[in-house]
Amino acid sequence: MSVEKKIQEMQDRKVAIRQGGGPDRIAKQHQSGKLTARERIEKLVDPGSFVEIDAFVQHRSNDFGMDNVNAPGDGVVAGYATIEERPVYLYAQDFTVIGGSLGEMHAKKIAKVQDMAMKMGCPIISINDSGGARIQEGIDALSGYGDIFYRNTLASGVIPQISVILGPCAGGAVYSPALTDFVFMVNNISKMFITGPQVVEAVTGESISAEELGGATAHNEISGVAHFLSDSEESCFESIRKLLSFLPQNNLEDTLLYECSDDLNRLAPELNSIIPDNPNKSYDVKDVIRAVVDNGDFFEVHALYATNIVVGFGRINGKTIGIVANQPNVKAGALDINASDKAARFVRFCDAFNIPLVTFTDVPGYLPGVDQEHGGVIRHGAKLLYAYSEATVPKINIILRKAYGGAYIAMSSKHLGADLVFAWPTAEIAVMGPEGAANIIFRKEIENSQDPMQTRQEKIEEYRNRFANPYIAAARGYIDDIIEPEATRPRIASALEMLISKRENRPAKKHGNIPV
Ligand code: HXC
Repeated sequence: MSVEKKIQEMQDRKVAIRQGGGPDRIAKQHQSGKLTARERIEKLVDPGSFVEIDAFVQHRSNDFGMDNVNAPGDGVVAGYATIEERPVYLYAQDFTVIGGSLGEMHAKKIAKVQDMAMKMGCPIISINDSGGARIQEGIDALSGYGDIFYRNTLASGVIPQISVILGPCAGGAVYSPALTDFVFMVNNISKMFITGPQVVEAVTGESISAEELGGATAHNEISGVAHFLSDSEESCFESIRKLLSFLPQNNLEDTLLYECSDDLNRLAPELNSIIPDNPNKSYDVKDVIRAVVDNGDFFEVHALYATNIVVGFGRINGKTIGIVANQPNVKAGALDINASDKAARFVRFCDAFNIPLVTFTDVPGYLPGVDQEHGGVIRHGAKLLYAYSEATVPKINIILRKAYGGAYIAMSSKHLGADLVFAWPTAEIAVMGPEGAANIIFRKEIENSQDPMQTRQEKIEEYRNRFANPYIAAARGYIDDIIEPEATRPRIASALEMLISKRENRPAKKHGNIPV
């Protein structure tokens, strides 16, 4: 065969492989409102930047008629590309080829790009659309999942790992996304569950649709498995690109430095009046965050889950910061099981990737309740203490208003190693809120008085005047300064600059044992 023909043969083979499961299955994919694996990659990455590897890989299964099954690329498209000119590795399962099911060779392709991403120090993005373990391949499929989970774990804290669920992701397959840093889902397209609706109904008698059980809303709002919800695949890809713009390529590289058009010394006078005079009134802490970060650009993570705490990325002077803030608008900003989990995981991500942490504190305490206690608020709440204590990145805390009890300590307090703690004059830092405190320490006086209601109010005021302020904590050096709210941005900006050279060593150990 001439060289020309050999080249032609290679090109023909590639064209055939790119057809995936063929026109009928591609049409079915489109009818179900989904893009194909290759279309997804094209829309996600810089135009023309995708380089496919392992397109010629084939399965080697003979069981259950598999020897007659042609499975182009073995149901997964893998390779590398750039996003905003930075390299990423990625793979997209091809549902048009045996339902994107994962067999031995399919898994080997994924493991190869995982290894390459780790070796080269680049983020990895997985696009999941699969019927799960390829049933005909049995234990070889299972072993493939194990290989992927193992690499997800090795890569954790080394490179950012992003999972995009764009179809079914069921059974044990869900655990790869669960091991990664960020999970994206799209309404009416993504489904994640360990056991689907039929099995749930057969075992427990509960009747529920697939969307209600494991759709994007369920996992963004209720389970917390997913971090981002989109209405379309295109807007999902937009969010992924935006997320990546805040992240470093790996744990040894810096985040990008963006040109900052927002004055570092910009005051935000609106912050001087954002705290209501009535301590029981709320406000939106996101207004504070947006007033402080560059150009008001705050990229929220986990926006629909445990909304009593807010986490996400922003920039100060063009550099990424990770933000954690209590949200007084929801449950008065109290910490509960889910908020602790959410914030602890985010703090650990930022620490692993050297992203400085800025915390905004307004927390009345841990949420009381039988379901909280029996659900393990002690164990979950401890995660936040652990995560902040463990973090060695620059840690800045601004106490806006309430900082009571154990929650005061948990929210990046000086005692857990915060480098700089500032308080607004509206801060109330004490062992507990004035109402609770007065009920306990003045109980007898209140009960024995002629007008218990009146006495109680007086005692609450007495306690508030004495303790509900920042000056006692400042007198002990537990906070470093009390600042004008409007000056929060310049104070954070200068603090970040001073902390850039921070070095902090910890006792040598294999690893700690965070309460999980
Ligand atoms: C082999 C599979 C497959 C699988 C789908 N297909 N899943 N082949 N192994 N796991 C094939 C179908 O036979 C079909 O082939 C094609 O893919 C498209 O599937 P459809 O059923 O036509 O698509 P749809 O109606 O959209 O339904 C999608 C689905 C359904 C809900 C995902 O296919 C399904 O329930 N699949 C099985 C899911 C499952 O039980 N997986 C194993 C889980 S155990 P043809 O040739 O007819 O077009 C597991 C353990 C992992 O994953 C443990 C890891 C630790």
